[in-house]
Amino acid sequence: MAHPALHLYVLAILLLALSFKATSTSTSTSTHNRRGLNSLHFTLYQQEAINKTVYLIVKGVTGPDVSPSASPFGSLFVNQDLLTISPNSSSKVVGVAEGASITSSLDGLTNIVMEKITLELKHYKGSVSVLGTAHNIKVIDLPVVGGTGDFMFVQGYIKPSLVTFENPNIVYKIEFHLYWPSYVANHFSHSDRSSTVNGV
Ligand SMILES: *[C@@H]1O[C@H](CO)[C@@H](O)[C@H](O)[C@H]1NC(C)=O
Ligand SMILES: *[C@@H]1O[C@H](CO)[C@@H](O)[C@H](O)[C@H]1NC(C)=O
Repeated sequence: MAHPALHLYVLAILLLALSFKATSTSTSTSTHNRRGLNSLHFTLYQQEAINKTVYLIVKGVTGPDVSPSASPFGSLFVNQDLLTISPNSSSKVVGVAEGASITSSLDGLTNIVMEKITLELKHYKGSVSVLGTAHNIKVIDLPVVGGTGDFMFVQGYIKPSLVTFENPNIVYKIEFHLYWPSYVANHFSHSDRSSTVNGV
């Protein structure tokens, strides 16, 4: 077993890391090793402006049961939005989300979403690719299906939720939950680099 003093030291660092995570609204990152998986968790804010960073390219057709929050079936939206470290659009930009969504349910509430999210974080540079469905009202996780650069081979999910909508500006909170498979972690020593994020 570890020396008791060392144990307290580790506990102190853990508490510090936890409090850091709880109080920071920015690119706070944390890592865990679970069954050889390395993971990275952080939150960013997507800054979107209608007719400036997101456009309706193809008008869909009105389906049978359209609710006020519905978009016409087949609507194609394309976006290129900045990702910032806080909800304030003037805060530091650390990423770009480029993608498209197509309204894919007849009630007009769900959309197939595909996004390439390029990230330039302190210790990680590269991109993640997202593919899944989003709902106009409910918060749904979107699967991360891969990545490039430091995010090569990642899997996981992002959780987008609406923060503010002040026409034409929309701010989404995006939680990232990224996991590297163990064979990548061993090969590229992500465990060494992840551990420098918290200094643990
Ligand atoms: C956003 O940030 C800018 C620049 O730091 C600041 O001037 C402004 O007051 C902030 N806005 C809000 C709503 O906090
Ligand atoms: C965006 O542009 C379309 C087409 O020009 C227009 O109908 C719509 O009202 C605009 N929306 C906003 C929020 O500016």
